[in-house]
Amino acid sequence: MNYYKGSLVTMSNLILIGFMGCGKSTTGVRLSYRMRRPFEDMDRLIEREQEMTIPEIFDVLGEEAFRRMETQLLGRLTDTARDQILATGGGMPLREENRRLLKKLGIVVYLRAQPVTIMERLKDDTSRPLLRKPDPEAEICRLLKERGPLYEQAADITIDVDDRDFDSVVEEITELLYTFEKDAQQVAE
Ligand code: S3P
Repeated sequence: MNYYKGSLVTMSNLILIGFMGCGKSTTGVRLSYRMRRPFEDMDRLIEREQEMTIPEIFDVLGEEAFRRMETQLLGRLTDTARDQILATGGGMPLREENRRLLKKLGIVVYLRAQPVTIMERLKDDTSRPLLRKPDPEAEICRLLKERGPLYEQAADITIDVDDRDFDSVVEEITELLYTFEKDAQQVAE
């Protein structure tokens, strides 16, 4: 049986949200193979459109300009994207407007990671402007505490990713999507 054929899930985009380093892009690429849908990373889209890297955008234009680009892109995708897997930047769900647009765009999956997992994954990373701080670990804890409730608010499905490989996360997402779809169909009936 094909779980996705003609279903709610087939018609929706699937959006991955979560903190920096939680694995949105890698999980998105693998899901895209698994579900045979195109994948797009919104940070990479912004970089291509601006012809600048994310750190350059932060340095030259500032964080606020980047946040406006995120909201604009999200608005555009809400009108145009169909049946895609989308990875967001870790700050996408912060604005209330973005959370509303995310819900409109499709099924939102939150990849939830504990601070220790994030610290381990990002310990040698230099590409995240927000973590260029004297004490990046304290910053990760602070931001996660602040953002955790917003990620939860934005999400339809939450997956814990600590101590797991990407394949098991992908497996769980596809199984949960099926359950999610069945629940949605029951509500619709
Ligand atoms: C950000 C996360 C980054 C990128 C930018 C801001 C954030 O994306 O959008 O550096 O505010 O958490 P990743 O989550 O892909 O690292």
